[in-house]
Amino acid sequence: MQTDKVFQMSASNIRFGEGCTSEIGMDLRALDVRRTMVLLDPGLKSLPIAEVVRDSLKQQQIDFEIFDEISVEPTDASFQHAAAVAAAGGFDSFVAVGGGSTIDTAKAANLYATWPAEFRRYVNAPIGDGQPVPGPLKPLIAVPTTAGTGSETTGVAVFDFTAQKAKTGIASRYLKPTLGIIDSNNTRSLPPAVAASSGLDVLSHALESYTALPFDQRPKPASPSLRPAYQGANPISDLWCLHALELMGEYLPRAFADPSDDEARSNMLLASAIAGIGFGNAGVHLPHAMSYPVAGMVKGFRPKGFDVDHDMVPHGMSVILSTPAVVRFTAASCPQRHLRAAAALGADVSNANPSDAGNVLADRVIHFMKRMDMPNGLAAVGYTATQIPDLVAGTLPQQRLTKLSPSPVHESVLTSLFQESLKLW
Ligand SMILES: NC(=O)c1ccc[n+]([C@@H]2O[C@H](COP(=O)([O-])OP(=O)(O)OC[C@H]3O[C@@H](n4cnc5c(N)ncnc54)[C@H](O)[C@@H]3O)[C@@H](O)[C@H]2O)c1
Repeated sequence: MQTDKVFQMSASNIRFGEGCTSEIGMDLRALDVRRTMVLLDPGLKSLPIAEVVRDSLKQQQIDFEIFDEISVEPTDASFQHAAAVAAAGGFDSFVAVGGGSTIDTAKAANLYATWPAEFRRYVNAPIGDGQPVPGPLKPLIAVPTTAGTGSETTGVAVFDFTAQKAKTGIASRYLKPTLGIIDSNNTRSLPPAVAASSGLDVLSHALESYTALPFDQRPKPASPSLRPAYQGANPISDLWCLHALELMGEYLPRAFADPSDDEARSNMLLASAIAGIGFGNAGVHLPHAMSYPVAGMVKGFRPKGFDVDHDMVPHGMSVILSTPAVVRFTAASCPQRHLRAAAALGADVSNANPSDAGNVLADRVIHFMKRMDMPNGLAAVGYTATQIPDLVAGTLPQQRLTKLSPSPVHESVLTSLFQESLKLW
């Protein structure tokens, strides 16, 4: 196999600062758009953010329609519903106001309204056909209200393929929002449970990207357009990921404990976007791959503090539950990186031996899980050992992610990782 010697940094266009949401009408005006579909998280309808966006669009005389039929953790059906509304509405631009669920739904609506196709066409292989998005989409401005998925910076839209009980996604640089508007006023109403789960998603994004298979150990693509955005750890993404870990370690406990702590919430939004730029140019690996069947097969678990009427494991929670077992497994491939990540998260590694790197990092992750009231392993969200073969079977098709593990994985490795993740402390 000829390995790649090249990596690409693809920047994201973001604006950061308290109050900047009110500028959105002027941004749309500058884009010379005529009619905008505003996808709004239904939980935010009566909150100040909805009013700020509406007023700003009205002031600039932008013709818009609000669509709020967003599913928390969207599905193929909810993506397709939004896409049908987008196609019928004659929109030339999109605004997403919400967490990852809303921003990802807007990306899918924009994609299928711009480049109509059978739904599976752009969905990641092997679950979908994995065909490339043919070209640029219409403008999309994303306003995140969680901290967060970093979806305002990435070219990824994640959804639950209901029939297959598996999460998967669509990935293309063309899906990246035209602009992300990141405003700490917009997370003031975030319930602590959502802040915890989405904050631990930030931790995992940064950690997985920093420890991913390096870009120069991946096969060389036949052309630059075939080089994946999830290209492996590289020197530029490393910088973003380490800084995101430092910010997360310092500010997540504060943002969780006190939603009125403006400095903490503001820095968590920064950490989320910074991690998004890092992982969007490197990729995530096993915790995300393993989280998809955990989220897809859940039965009988409803997270405290989430306003949902169905069983679910929130995304950040589903990811972090396997992170301790994964880092113990991957540490041998690059112990120094695992120790460096633990230090960025605030662990004292001055006397740590490289052979302990996995345990040191796992302990640090568990430290944050306990502080954020996370469940103690997969058993606490309803899974038993008898379901492990199904969880493994649901992880194996996530090849885009599993192949970025720095240590090779196969069925028996995944079985052990799920077993170790049943109970964490
Ligand atoms: N595209 C990407 O790059 C990417 C990356 C990671 C995760 N994701 C996906 O994003 C989704 C998860 O997104 P999320 O963690 O941002 O949460 P979310 O969008 O699912 O929202 C979670 C809950 O929080 C509520 N909420 C959101 N913002 C709020 C606020 N400011 N005040 C009060 N309530 C608020 C919502 O109404 C909802 O009930 C998953 O589907 C996940 O797979 C996407």
